[in-house]
Amino acid sequence: MPDSPRAAIKGLGVAVPDRVLTNTDLESFVDTSDEWIVQRTGIRQRRVVSNGQTTASLAADAAKAALNDAGLDAGELDLIICATVCPEMILPATACFIQSELAATRAAAFDLNAACSGWLYALTVADQFIRTGTYNRVLVVGSETLTRFTDYTDRATCVLFGDGAGAAVLEADDSGLRGILYNVMHADGSGWDFIHVPAGGAREVASHRTVAERKHFIKMRGRDVYKFAVEKMQWLLADCTKACGLSPDDVDLVVPHQVNVRIIKSATDKVGLPLDKVYINIDRYGNTSAASIPLALAEARQDGRIGVGSLVLLVAFGAGLTWAGTVVRL
Ligand code: ACO
Repeated sequence: MPDSPRAAIKGLGVAVPDRVLTNTDLESFVDTSDEWIVQRTGIRQRRVVSNGQTTASLAADAAKAALNDAGLDAGELDLIICATVCPEMILPATACFIQSELAATRAAAFDLNAACSGWLYALTVADQFIRTGTYNRVLVVGSETLTRFTDYTDRATCVLFGDGAGAAVLEADDSGLRGILYNVMHADGSGWDFIHVPAGGAREVASHRTVAERKHFIKMRGRDVYKFAVEKMQWLLADCTKACGLSPDDVDLVVPHQVNVRIIKSATDKVGLPLDKVYINIDRYGNTSAASIPLALAEARQDGRIGVGSLVLLVAFGAGLTWAGTVVRL
């Protein structure tokens, strides 16, 4: 029996828009090709929100599915954390919209922005609340509508991003058999301009000029991000396995942030993890930032790749710069 309860993932849920944007669709209005996108990124299609769908509506749908999977009512939640870089509004927090939609009347609610590492940062925060006994049930959602902030005149970024949401319900577990075993989080703010949206915040408020200059869209230094992502993914895999005394054989599945197949292959190769232990669904969803890991985790379970008792490594890296890892026994 552990000294304090562990935070166990008791339910998972996802929500993705029905609308599919394929590489071939992109070819009709962007100077690109299916061949280039597949070869450089592994992406074949992504989901795109329709009018009326928002970060909070996707998040609430994923949350309802996760609660249903956990067999819990929203009224039993103590806390809702929403990881997102596409907030419903600058204020209030997207998590408050989710709380209202779920009627989770007992739950505190706040947002967390650590970009593509956001869901793992949120998982770590939830884990702390549960380990200390402050809360018993925490909903952790990653939800993004990145296509709303994607500049379709910039071919270097517009092929990468997609929309979606994933959620987990964490519950205190005393069995000693399940739960989060290890978390690590890091940041390096000196790399803030690797991936950013220049205007719309306090530094440069929205104006006719910022709109005309397309400063409300995601800007990215692709090659720098690529190098950063390979290095940090490699480091995270080594750190997580070392901290938990694991060999590659002990790991049932690695679920990485779905950033780029080449990045994932290069990093796992360097640490000697066979690709059949790595879950990849970027071909169908593109990069969905904070939604990418819970989306992939839920699909991996649905596909039968993992189940209760599986040992899973989660690793993410993104704007900030931020990077984070979690080891969990499902
Ligand atoms: N279609 C066709 N050609 C393109 C496209 C496109 N969509 N985009 C760029 N090109 C061209 C460039 O203009 C360039 O042409 P040139 O040689 O004539 O100048 C050529 O392709 C090579 O461009 P590079 O930028 O060097 O291509 P690279 O191999 O680095 O691939 C990519 C670009 C896919 C963006 C890669 O750098 C990458 O994946 N970086 C990581 C970025 C990322 O995933 N960010 C996500 C957000 S942050 C996060 O999740 C961590």
